[in-house]
Amino acid sequence: MMPDPVDQYAVFGNPVSHSKSPLIHQAFARATQQQLTYGAIEAPIEGFAQAVNAFHSAGGCGCNVTVPFKVDAYELADSLDDDAASSGAVNTLKWSKSGQLLGFNTDGKGLLRDLQDNLNIELAGQKILIVGAGGAAAGVILPLLGSGPRELSVVNRTPDRAQRLVENFLPQASGRLSAATLDNPGGDYDLVINATSASLSGQTPNLPAGLFAANGQAYDLAYADQPTAFLRWAITQGVNHLSDGLGMLVEQAAEAFFIWRGVRPVTAEVIRTLRG
Ligand code: ATR
Repeated sequence: MMPDPVDQYAVFGNPVSHSKSPLIHQAFARATQQQLTYGAIEAPIEGFAQAVNAFHSAGGCGCNVTVPFKVDAYELADSLDDDAASSGAVNTLKWSKSGQLLGFNTDGKGLLRDLQDNLNIELAGQKILIVGAGGAAAGVILPLLGSGPRELSVVNRTPDRAQRLVENFLPQASGRLSAATLDNPGGDYDLVINATSASLSGQTPNLPAGLFAANGQAYDLAYADQPTAFLRWAITQGVNHLSDGLGMLVEQAAEAFFIWRGVRPVTAEVIRTLRG
């Protein structure tokens, strides 16, 4: 008898060679003794759906989706979980036994796990600012609201975009969500999250001084080997509690792994290895 084929997973992106997802999922598979392969596939910019379908035909069970395909994945999925539906983006796909393509967005849950479990931040009752109003910001608003902040504000370089994003979530916000502007964002924030893509080009949003409460936390959804421009700016504001998004990256991967395999991997060792 032929042995069962090994379950196949992959991350789709363009470019994708820099992705840490294969390392992370292979480490999870070893630690949980799951038999699977996990690769990286660069899909053509106009060819995401074809690439994903070809992967499934060749035995693919599920995949992660990164830039620039999260909206394509949202459109391709046959059904969506709440976080994917509310953010308009999918970062995890899974084929059901009957061949349905299920779409999930684990970014928000990954952020919450990193903030609450790894950094031990109590979010309930806090005053939180999100800087940015693109896909990354959209993915974290609903999970953050669910963690019970006192206030959640959104600012963006293009103010209309922040306003529109906030309006999408008002029905679920119970009066705690609002848009402000970069030059007048308010102050006394316990947590300021950079959800702009500015860090990727070494820039930082043009924020005024006085944003942070005493003991405030700065969190950049982006990560890099060196502190990001936003975290370096936060240091000039006297902030001592700083984190980039590497922990979130590993935690969103753990959520995806759980969706596929029904097993929750321990993340601390993987985060330590990646930081090393
Ligand atoms: P992502 O999916 O990473 O969120 P996106 O949807 O293109 O990518 O959104 C990028 C976000 O980063 C936007 O909020 C963008 O601001 P604009 O809406 O004004 O374009 C923000 N951004 C990018 N570069 C920036 C910079 N140098 N300063 C401030 N904001 C920046």
